[in-house]
Amino acid sequence: MAVDLLLGLQWGDEGKGKIVDVLTSNYDIIARFQGGPNAGHTLVFNGKKHVLHTIPSGIFHDGTINLVGNGVVIDPVIFKGELDKLEAQDVDYRKSLVISRKAHIILPTHRLLDAASEASKGKAKIGSTLKGIGPTYMDKTGRNGIRVGDLELSDWKERYRALADKHESMIAFYDVDIQYNLEELETEFFKAIEVLKSLKFIDSEEYIYQAQKTGKTILAEGAQGSLLDIDFGTYPFVTSSNTTAAGACTGLGVAPNQIGEVFGIFKAYTTRVGSGPFPTELFDEDGATMSRVGNEFGATTGRPRRCGWLDLVALKYACQVNGVTQLMMMKGDVLSGFKTLKVCTAYKYKGDIIKHFPYNIEPENVEPIYTEVDGWQEDLTEMSETSQLPKALNEYIEFLEKELEIPITIVSVGPDRKQTIFRS
Ligand code: GDP
Ligand code: IMO
Ligand code: MG
Repeated sequence: MAVDLLLGLQWGDEGKGKIVDVLTSNYDIIARFQGGPNAGHTLVFNGKKHVLHTIPSGIFHDGTINLVGNGVVIDPVIFKGELDKLEAQDVDYRKSLVISRKAHIILPTHRLLDAASEASKGKAKIGSTLKGIGPTYMDKTGRNGIRVGDLELSDWKERYRALADKHESMIAFYDVDIQYNLEELETEFFKAIEVLKSLKFIDSEEYIYQAQKTGKTILAEGAQGSLLDIDFGTYPFVTSSNTTAAGACTGLGVAPNQIGEVFGIFKAYTTRVGSGPFPTELFDEDGATMSRVGNEFGATTGRPRRCGWLDLVALKYACQVNGVTQLMMMKGDVLSGFKTLKVCTAYKYKGDIIKHFPYNIEPENVEPIYTEVDGWQEDLTEMSETSQLPKALNEYIEFLEKELEIPITIVSVGPDRKQTIFRS
C-alpha cells in the first residue's frame, strides 16, 4: 500500500493534529517524519483537549501503531512528559509506540545553544520555540549527533560528554548571558533517557517496508508547515527540517513512488507565530477578531499568533511543492460574522504583478492584491453536513478550489473531532 501524507500548507498550526486523529481510523500506522517538540498538535474529543509534541496524533486509537521516524528529533525530557500525560489517561502506549533508532536526540545543551543563538541575534531573532531544534539538526548534518540507536551502545555516555563539552564552549563563544545549571538539566535528562530506553526501538525504514508489503495502511503526519520548510520556506525565518512532502521520504525511508494521497491542510485565513515576513498580516480589528475567535495562541509556547487573510499565492506554492491531491480547510467557523472576506490572489512585487511565490517576500518588496468575497454570518459549529453550509461559504470553497485546482474534501468547523464535514 502507498503511504499517504498529511502536511500543513502555511506557517504551521493549521490543525494537523485534529485531522490526523479524525483520519486515524482509516490507518494501521501513523508516522511522524520530521520536526520535534517545536510542534504542538491539538486534539479535542469527549470534552477534553490533548496537546502532543513528538508523539504521533494517532496515539488515542486502540490498535494503531504510532511511529516516530528517523527524521524526527526527540527531547527525552519532553517525550517523558508526554508519556506521563498519556499514562494518566490510561493510554497503553507501550504496545502502540515505536521509535526509529535513527532519530536524533536533543541534548540539554542543544536547548541552551538555541537560546544563545537567538539571544545573539537580537532583533533579527527567528522567534524559535527554543526547543533545541536548530542545533540538533546542525549536529545531525554536521555528523556529530547522538541517535536513539546509540543508547544501546556501551560508550554512548562518553560520546554524550564529549558533545556536551563542545556545546558548552560554543555557548561561551556566543558571549551572551545564558544562565544554566547543567548538572540539574542532566539529572532530568538521564532519568528521561531511561524511560525512553524502556520503549521499543526499531529499524523503522524496514518496519515500514514490511508493513507496506503486507498491505498495512500508513499515514505520515507532518509537523510545522510548508512555509517553514528549510529549503522552500521564508528563510531564514524557518525551522531546520524539510516540512514538505519530500521530507516524508527522507524522514521515514519511503521511496517517492510509494507516496499515495497528499492531504494539504490550511486555515481559512492565515496565522504565523515567531518572526518573519507575512504579506497578508492584519494589524486592525479584523486581525484581532481572528485572534480572539480563533483563540490563536501557540500550543507549544503560548505566544500569540499573528493573523491575516488567506494568501492564495503562498498556498498555491505550497500545493505545488508538495503535490497536494486533497485539501482540508480548517477554522471556517472563525470567519463567521465578517461581512466580506479578502483573499490575496497576486502580489505586487517590485512594481510588477506576479502570481508566483518569489525569492523574497519582505514587506518592502511585496504588497498583497486582494479579491473581496461575501462572508457568512451563520454559526457553523453545530453543522455536520455539506447541505447545511451557508451559500457564501460554499462560494468561498468553490472559489478556492477553482484557484488552486484541487478539491477541498474536509471542512472543519470547530476543534472537536466531531466538528468535521466530509465533502465528496
Ligand atoms: P497543528 O499544530 O497543525 O496540529 O495545530 P494546533 O493544534 O497548533 O492549532 C490548531 C488550533 O485550532 C488548536 O487549538 C485546535 O484545537 C484548533 N482547531 C482545529 N480545527 C479547528 C476548527 O475547525 N475550528 C476551530 N475553531 N478551531 C480548530
Ligand atoms: P506545528 O507542528 C507553528 C516556528 C517558530 C519559529 C520557527 C523556528 O505545531 O504546526 P524552531 O523552534 O523550529 O527553531 O522555530 O518556526 N515553528 C512553528 N510555528 N507551528 C509549529 O509546529 C512550529 N514549529 C516551529 O515559531 O518561527
Ligand atoms: Mg501547532
